[in-house]
Amino acid sequence: MENLIVLDHPLIQHKISLLRDKNTKTKEFRELVLEISMLMGYEVTREMPLKEVEIETPVGVAKAKVLSGKKLGIVPILRAGLGMADGILNLLPMAKVGHIGLYREPDTLKPVEYYCKLPEDAEEREIVILDPMLATGGSASLAIQYLKEKGVKSIKLMCIIASEDGIKTINKEHPDVTIYAAAVDKTLDEKGYIVPGLGDAGDRLFGTK
Ligand code: URA
Repeated sequence: MENLIVLDHPLIQHKISLLRDKNTKTKEFRELVLEISMLMGYEVTREMPLKEVEIETPVGVAKAKVLSGKKLGIVPILRAGLGMADGILNLLPMAKVGHIGLYREPDTLKPVEYYCKLPEDAEEREIVILDPMLATGGSASLAIQYLKEKGVKSIKLMCIIASEDGIKTINKEHPDVTIYAAAVDKTLDEKGYIVPGLGDAGDRLFGTK
């Protein structure tokens, strides 16, 4: 598996264990997804370029650094990706947010697009796709393809749990995309759910089951 960064920080691992627990209720689940996304955001933004500036402090002038270069855009895949967006926006409130709506055709498990709205200047931004569960990789791959067709050149994929199959799919179809995952699980069941995973992230986030 290539282009994969697994964020195995103890705080993230602890919170993922709580997320996996079937007894974790909607409110706590939502808070955990937000907290994990914030912690992951720290690493996903590690290579953001800086420039030097001079800042007047109350006692002198400091040579300091501020973010510069390409601006960030985040693109949650609806609907479960929405749960991760606020975590990143807490860190980078100026990031623009696009949305891509995809559902999986139940028989074939193939993704079908039903909604897409991107920031106008998406192609000038560094885009981070948010999808908590990278299962077959089909939805994420289609979303990446779509962004590339719109001219986006720099894409990262951030998921909470990734399956080995999903990682292989992205590696094969988009070798230029780095995947950030907090955990990697081995298998998928016949419905395309990650095992052991955490169940349906959208249902657990929004209390729809
Ligand atoms: N989507 C989910 O919400 N969970 C999975 O296990 C796979 C895809």
